[in-house]
Amino acid sequence: AIHQLFLEHIVCHLCLLTLRCMSLSEFFFCVFGMTWNDLKVCFFTLLQGVKKPFEEVIKANIGDTHAMGQRPITFFRQVMALCCYPLLLDDNKFPEDAKNRARRILQSCGGNSIGAYTTSQGIDCVRHDVANYIQRRDGGIPSDPDNIYLTTGASDGIVTILKLLTTGEGRTRTGVMISIPQYPLYSASIAELGAVQVNYYLNEEKCWSLDISELQRSLQEAREHCNPSVLCIINPGNPTGQVQSRQCIEDVIQFAAKENLFLMADEVYQDNVYAEGCEFHSFKKVLFEMGPEYSSKVELASFHSTSKCYMGECGFRGGYMEVINMDPEVKAQLTKLVSVRLCPPAPGQALMDLVVNSPQPGEPSHQTFMKVPFIFPYLFQMSDHMLEVFHFHKTRQNHRNWPDF
Ligand SMILES: Cc1ncc(COP(=O)(O)O)c(C=O)c1O
Repeated sequence: AIHQLFLEHIVCHLCLLTLRCMSLSEFFFCVFGMTWNDLKVCFFTLLQGVKKPFEEVIKANIGDTHAMGQRPITFFRQVMALCCYPLLLDDNKFPEDAKNRARRILQSCGGNSIGAYTTSQGIDCVRHDVANYIQRRDGGIPSDPDNIYLTTGASDGIVTILKLLTTGEGRTRTGVMISIPQYPLYSASIAELGAVQVNYYLNEEKCWSLDISELQRSLQEAREHCNPSVLCIINPGNPTGQVQSRQCIEDVIQFAAKENLFLMADEVYQDNVYAEGCEFHSFKKVLFEMGPEYSSKVELASFHSTSKCYMGECGFRGGYMEVINMDPEVKAQLTKLVSVRLCPPAPGQALMDLVVNSPQPGEPSHQTFMKVPFIFPYLFQMSDHMLEVFHFHKTRQNHRNWPDF
């Protein structure tokens, strides 16, 4: 699991460890913030021939696989091209299944155009496809399309839920428990919203695993000065790459139930599991397998995205969140909150649809799409390479050559 480490996130994390920002003026987002700007200056001075104690700056500030050479999935781009320029529907270079997908998406768009606003919660047929995907992924546990919100990448969903849950003043101010190391979106959003950042530390000695005793310590200490009511989990982890065991997830859910915490499960790396013996378990699945005592009570929002793994389509800003056990009145507020921003980008929603609803056996694009698993060894090699570089090994290699899929 440790092979999922990406250097960029380690760099971000190291910067963030020193941060405790509680206001917008102190808000600091390492991924695109000042650290990155400083590095850019460094990069240009090197180009101008200024001598530094190093020869090269590796741009690793963000997990952007296409920027690093990963190629897009042909089927995805065909459907997106057809959606954006429907005259291509008459072009016989495009396979029929790609055309059918594009027609179906376009029919759900206002004026049959991908350029129209969509409903704020997201295109109906896409939300249904997401729910079907979750149900398949979770071994048949039902998913209700009404609980699905399409988002502008996972980031938007995460910030929206944090916004929804942040309330109170002084000692009653919402505390948000986040792992350290973390992904900088969390600390930055907590600062922006004026919530209280409550750190819990992952156990490096045990491959960055999560100890319930550490959660308990962190919660108890936080209760002295705020109202910790949200617990954020990144699984598989970023930047640490750990994949939580089923038992660990069960323990976390029990802890959340006992302490009345709202669980946020960031599962954007659910397909990035390479290490032998590691398996992704969704929080939703484990929650429902624990029986009604938990599945009818624990509030959960889980997040996924088009940005990572074999798709790597982060520029499209596609994502979704599923909310479970949210009080209907709170859910109405959530719907109101997302409606203020009108809707997530329609192309991102269309792409999300393709991710959750890939070509099926018998469809013309199925055979080509079946090559997708061949991307995984490349992803594994890249993360391995990042580890080598991070540990300053001498075995420097050039970028891998990415094949087409
Ligand atoms: C753990 C984690 N969550 C969320 C995101 C944001 O993803 P998106 O591009 O879907 O907004 C990232 C991006 O790197 C991430 O690493």
